Amino acid sequence: MRVPELIQKKRDGGEHDLADLRALVGGYTRGEVPDYQVAAWLMAVFLRGMTPAETALLTRVMAESGDMLDLSALGDTVDKHSTGGVGDKTSLVLGPMLAALGLTVAKMSGRGLAHTGGTIDKLESIPGWRDQLSDEEFTSQARRVGMALVGQSRNLAPADGLLYALRDVTATVDSVPLIASSIMSKKLAAGARTIVLDVKVGAGAFMRTPGDGERLARAMVEIGTHSGRRVRALLTDMDTPLGHMAGNSLEVIEAIDTLRGEGPRDLLDLCLALAEEALMAHGATREDAERRARAVIEDGSALGKFREFVAAQGGDASFVDDTARFDVAPGRAEITADRDGFVAGVDALSVGRAVLALGGGRERKGEAIDHGVGVELVRKPGEAVRAGETVARLYHRGRGVDRALDLVRTGLTFSETAPGVPPLVLGRVQ
Ligand code: URA
Repeated sequence: MRVPELIQKKRDGGEHDLADLRALVGGYTRGEVPDYQVAAWLMAVFLRGMTPAETALLTRVMAESGDMLDLSALGDTVDKHSTGGVGDKTSLVLGPMLAALGLTVAKMSGRGLAHTGGTIDKLESIPGWRDQLSDEEFTSQARRVGMALVGQSRNLAPADGLLYALRDVTATVDSVPLIASSIMSKKLAAGARTIVLDVKVGAGAFMRTPGDGERLARAMVEIGTHSGRRVRALLTDMDTPLGHMAGNSLEVIEAIDTLRGEGPRDLLDLCLALAEEALMAHGATREDAERRARAVIEDGSALGKFREFVAAQGGDASFVDDTARFDVAPGRAEITADRDGFVAGVDALSVGRAVLALGGGRERKGEAIDHGVGVELVRKPGEAVRAGETVARLYHRGRGVDRALDLVRTGLTFSETAPGVPPLVLGRVQ
């Protein structure tokens, strides 16, 4: 079929086969199909949708457009993906937990852009830690420690980068099959056999309602299953940042506290829930999974794995035992409550933008960032405050303080009576 016929097929509600998608998306990646035809096709997909089988084929074509990592020498590796949030340091806690549970985490992670942070930036708060390993170092560390985490150096799913740029300017981003294939193409190319997804729902997330979150989670689980991977997803609340800290060093400190069993409740609960999903994907019962996930925090073995992982990638592991050594910005600015009451909400997006204003994030790829700045949410939604008490604290070096204060202030809401706080885990898809 010629490209106009393929566009027509989708426009009229037809279902593509592998050859159609290779001609369209493969052809686009090779520069043989122009933007205007793919733009028309994306709009047809946006309006008509895709069947689960068709979405899985699209994902496969996108994944196969670049390098496909072969991790089979490591057996059954586990990857975790979050659809993005503010203060989301889950990978720093979950990775060592899974390694301590005997699973193997061999993962590529990204850097932060705009209001969302990136795991690689956070880890670079630890002096010496490096995000690049040779293939040989990556595999041998994953085998020895149970955890290796590197920056994106490979050409993973280049079709996704091209399609995403076109979706961004043709009002076709928020389509479930397009988002699901975009995320899963990178996960399939990254090679893990087991994938645990944390689909965020709420004001700070791509998916605003639990219903939309569930449709996306289901689409991603179906793609993984069609592709022979084990995939499970949690739907979790992202109205409010996770934990108390947002900002690179501050988040690593909070992750270490959590591995020590002294972190915030929501972060620990989410990491336990994700670890349980990974164990259940490997055949554990829920009861057994709950007990084992909790045990690696209580007996210190997850913290020990984090220390081992940091040292293996050249980082100064003494920071793990003495978090006062982290370079946290010395300036402080506080927001206090002007009357007695309760914190009703903290808008995650505003907090993410405040970190960006302080210099802790980047507007454009490649910009340098300040690892030591950030925002501490001293009080979280549902907690009582008295007039004059600190609700939020900024850690700064003088840059962007007024703007960051404005942003956090605008993102905070108060109520006179105790507000209802949504549960963290809103649903599960397997
Ligand atoms: N994240 C992705 O990687 N792709 C999308 O389309 C949306 C969020």
